[in-house]
Amino acid sequence: MHVLGICGSLRRASYNRALLRAAIELAPEGMSIEIAEIRDVPLYDGDLEAEIGFPEPVLRLREQIRSADALLFATPEYNCGLPGVLKNAIDWVSRGADQPFHDKPAAMMGASLATLGTVRAQVALRQTAVYLNLHFLQRPEVFIGRAQEKVDADGRLYEERSRQQIERLLVALQGWTRRLQRDE
Ligand code: FNR
Repeated sequence: MHVLGICGSLRRASYNRALLRAAIELAPEGMSIEIAEIRDVPLYDGDLEAEIGFPEPVLRLREQIRSADALLFATPEYNCGLPGVLKNAIDWVSRGADQPFHDKPAAMMGASLATLGTVRAQVALRQTAVYLNLHFLQRPEVFIGRAQEKVDADGRLYEERSRQQIERLLVALQGWTRRLQRDE
């Protein structure tokens, strides 16, 4: 089972990227996780789309999403919502009748400096997913608050409880993906 990780932060020392790296270490037997790159996705512009179609970084991301069995989002919360870079990438990928989010199993997690750990960003992501027919696992929910106390200077998530939460999320995502694939 191949899972594509999508990070909502471009920051080198991103706590959310640390969650994805931890997920790679904690993936259950039979699951591999690769992290997508959204840094080069340009700002969505309908004129650009009309002129050239999908820019290369968008084409690449769409293909990575299409060929993944499931998606794993790790996103910060910015001003109680989704970071612009992530929403922008989702908006590009969502274009066209063959948009690759359709019927894709997915899970989400998030890390923040504050205690709520991206609760509101995750609600916003779920709302967008409804329209895209992207099937997010409902539970377990993974909100890693006060991430600065759980990730070390090398960007490794060391706090055991958070690691266990991610491990449980991945096992649930594996079961959820198998279930949706059986129903195809
Ligand atoms: C934030 N941060 C933040 N945190 C939070 O819990 N709720 C929020 O609404 C916001 N809003 C917000 C807006 C903007 C513009 C920035 C830059 C930051 C703080 C956020 O949790 C912190 O920067 C994290 O470290 C971001 O995640 P990464 O980059 O470490 O993955």
